[in-house]
Amino acid sequence: MDLGLRDRVYIVTGGTRGLGRACADVLVSEGARVVVSGRNAASVDVACTELGEQARGIAADNADTATPARLLEVARSTWGRVDGALVSVGGPPKGPVTQMSDEQWTTAFSSVFLGAVRLMREIGQSLDDGGSLVAVLSSSVRSPLAEMAISNGLRPGLGMVAKTLADELGPRGVRVNGVLPGRVATERVAELDASSGDPDAARAAAEATIPLRRYGTPEEFGRAAAFLLAPASSYVTGVMLPVDGGLLRAL
Ligand SMILES: NC(=O)c1ccc[n+]([C@@H]2O[C@H](COP(=O)([O-])OP(=O)(O)OC[C@H]3O[C@@H](n4cnc5c(N)ncnc54)[C@H](OP(=O)(O)O)[C@@H]3O)[C@@H](O)[C@H]2O)c1
Repeated sequence: MDLGLRDRVYIVTGGTRGLGRACADVLVSEGARVVVSGRNAASVDVACTELGEQARGIAADNADTATPARLLEVARSTWGRVDGALVSVGGPPKGPVTQMSDEQWTTAFSSVFLGAVRLMREIGQSLDDGGSLVAVLSSSVRSPLAEMAISNGLRPGLGMVAKTLADELGPRGVRVNGVLPGRVATERVAELDASSGDPDAARAAAEATIPLRRYGTPEEFGRAAAFLLAPASSYVTGVMLPVDGGLLRAL
């Protein structure tokens, strides 16, 4: 199957490592061009060098109100078009409701929630027929994760915002979907496992709850996300797609 990605242009926030970077890798390998972002300028430079000629990048924080316009400007001035965006960002801090401070909620809301809403709103309105937005969310959209109070609080609302935006942009031929990773082996997940004090035991315990009995690879996630961005998924919108090895107990 041809995904139809050749020469198309996608913005990938949080694209310097982890899930965003894995999606950028697939997009580039399928002939698309990408504008990647992250907060750290040196990481952006490394990612662009590794991705090659089909990539540009800027240091930009998803919490910054100027970020959507800056990303659109790079895409348009470099390649003269924008076909969609993958919105990924660093995850919120781990911890139970009883220990999360107002400041932690406010900081996470600004980057994880409002940043994603603003990016999808601004980029979505600039897309033409065939455009596609994909929000990187979490299995916490459907089922709460232990010790992840802020993720459990913010992700379901973001999923509903994406669903609502799919209604609003659908008549123009623009699609909006979400992806719900379970446990995909990125640096963030390794850091979360390490925070338990025994990363091997934490990983083994988590894998035992996954029907496929293993963590996903970033490449597996990247292929699913790239499919939702691509013309190949042209009749799929308003969907929250788990990429979780069967972890979620909800249909
Ligand atoms: N991996 C999983 O299995 C999994 C499961 C459920 C949910 N998720 C969610 O999926 C998202 C991506 O996860 P990941 O595993 O890829 O995380 P990751 O390995 O920590 O990568 C995060 C990426 O986002 C960038 N970033 C962080 N904060 C940012 C900000 N405010 N503005 C712009 N870029 C920012 C990082 O670069 P800089 O640090 O340089 O900014 C990096 O490129 C997270 O929100 C995470 O909670 C992941």
